Amino acid sequence: MRHLMSPLDFSVDELDDLLTLANDIEHYPEKYAHACDGKKLATCFYEPSTRTRLSFEAAMLNLGGSVLGFSSADSSSAAKGESVSDTIRVISCYADICAIRHPKEGAALVASLKSFIPVINAGDGGHQHPTQTLTDLLTIRSLKGRLSNLTIGLCGDLKFGRTAHSLIHALIRYANVKFVLISPEELRIPDYIREDVLIKNNVPFTELERLEDAIPSLDILYMTRVQKERFFNEEDYVRMKDFYILTKDKLKLAKEDMLILHPLPRVNEISVEIDDDPRAVYFKQAQYGVYVRMALILTLLKWR
Ligand code: NCD
Repeated sequence: MRHLMSPLDFSVDELDDLLTLANDIEHYPEKYAHACDGKKLATCFYEPSTRTRLSFEAAMLNLGGSVLGFSSADSSSAAKGESVSDTIRVISCYADICAIRHPKEGAALVASLKSFIPVINAGDGGHQHPTQTLTDLLTIRSLKGRLSNLTIGLCGDLKFGRTAHSLIHALIRYANVKFVLISPEELRIPDYIREDVLIKNNVPFTELERLEDAIPSLDILYMTRVQKERFFNEEDYVRMKDFYILTKDKLKLAKEDMLILHPLPRVNEISVEIDDDPRAVYFKQAQYGVYVRMALILTLLKWR
């Protein structure tokens, strides 16, 4: 049995197969409409979510399976003091596979150690968000045709943004990938990623503050929201929240074929005037999230 805690849990070849399966699902959905008949997915969400939870549920329903779960800690026995370990042991009796989101880093890993069914990390605090990364990889591969030879700008809250952390981990395994890390000083990428992931693996990267300086060189611009819920005080958040706003004017500096991704939810960091630009693919990205989660559910259930 296998779980998914980090994008590195899959080898590059396994990822390739998963993304290929997701594209097959995209083009021939009817082939998969009964692939999970009689199977149940539990979604255990201790933190807010729209896309991740609903795309997981849509994915299982598209496969012919059913879903059960809770969408906030308040509506589960966590409110009574139950541990994640105990909850997952019980969920293992009710479902065949589980996606869990929790505000504490490592919570999904703790769950996986006690679980009798595959556990998927659907976001653990400011740490990792591997299924968003699968979504991002599928989006880039499908729309750009490759995951190598890319200059990728990650912009915004690189300190707390788990989607950025997971994406960096995943992309360093492809040839000739360069990163441009765009953030205010206070929201720079954590040291453990700069040192242990980028420098240790000789991955080229630059860090800068002005989005305008970075845009012209980019093949992909990955925008992120300032992670309000991870700030210790409101004042710091208010000071940071509108640091970056991607506007039509700034986009004039970009390559004609640069893609703009965003895991969503967007707050102010991308002006809505950009939504109709063909380079803005963040809503398509949300759709790819369903295909890739279908592929993931099928793959983990097959290995069970
Ligand atoms: C992201 C998350 O939860 O980390 N959302 C998502 O799953 N698409 C990004 C965010 O909340 O900013």
